[in-house]
Amino acid sequence: MRTIVAGNWKMNTDRVSAAALIDALVKESASFGAEVEVIIAPPFPFLGMAVEKCAGTTIRVAAQNCHEAEKGAYTGEVSATMLRSIGVQACIAGHSERRQYFSESDARIGEKVAALLALGLTPIFCCGEKKEERESGRHFDVVTEQMKGALGRFSNAELERVIIAYEPVWAIGTGLTASNEQAQEMHAHIRALLHTHGASVADHVPILYGGSCNPSNAEGLFAQTDVNGGLIGGASLVAEHFLELVRIASDSKASRP
Ligand code: 13P
Repeated sequence: MRTIVAGNWKMNTDRVSAAALIDALVKESASFGAEVEVIIAPPFPFLGMAVEKCAGTTIRVAAQNCHEAEKGAYTGEVSATMLRSIGVQACIAGHSERRQYFSESDARIGEKVAALLALGLTPIFCCGEKKEERESGRHFDVVTEQMKGALGRFSNAELERVIIAYEPVWAIGTGLTASNEQAQEMHAHIRALLHTHGASVADHVPILYGGSCNPSNAEGLFAQTDVNGGLIGGASLVAEHFLELVRIASDSKASRP
């Protein structure tokens, strides 16, 4: 199973700080072990620069969102076709901030995943429950619905090209991380859902944890059986922290049977 550390920069950085952050990662990239894939998702205006700066390294560049249509009268939107044309290789779909602030439904997120898969881009599909959903014990059902609603229509071959990120909404940007046990039990639940499509899907799809993941808690999280790395927000904006997370993921992968 692949191990992945992905940085979601959200709506942060400017041209100068984005360039500095990418340069700092590129400088260290030769030391990244082959056992960990590193992905960065800068804001749209800096994607071209990121692709250019990361060329010749193992760092892959992702977008944070895309529109599901190929092109057309959708002012302000960016298509997967455009992303591919500049060398972007992956794209986050269905982040909880898109669900919350831009009313993205599971069906719509499924359309985005379909558009990405059709073009050979890697979708990083996000799911996760809100605080009140966990408190009322509905977290497994919520994640099941999100998975089925967005990913239910895809073939096994398509599903095998997806990366899943479990991001409990109550843990995002709050400093409240899921415990190792909470992360593992939900990741195991997601793995079991994938297994209903066949062992090969369950064996191929990495499930990343996201939500206040940082160098002080990543070791325990990344060591969990069904946690295959992280989707990192705040800590991905500080090069040393992100690089430390890559190292922790490498070590955790190396110590697995
Ligand atoms: P934080 O790491 O800032 O909590 O964000 C997680 C996230 O939303 C990554 O997509």
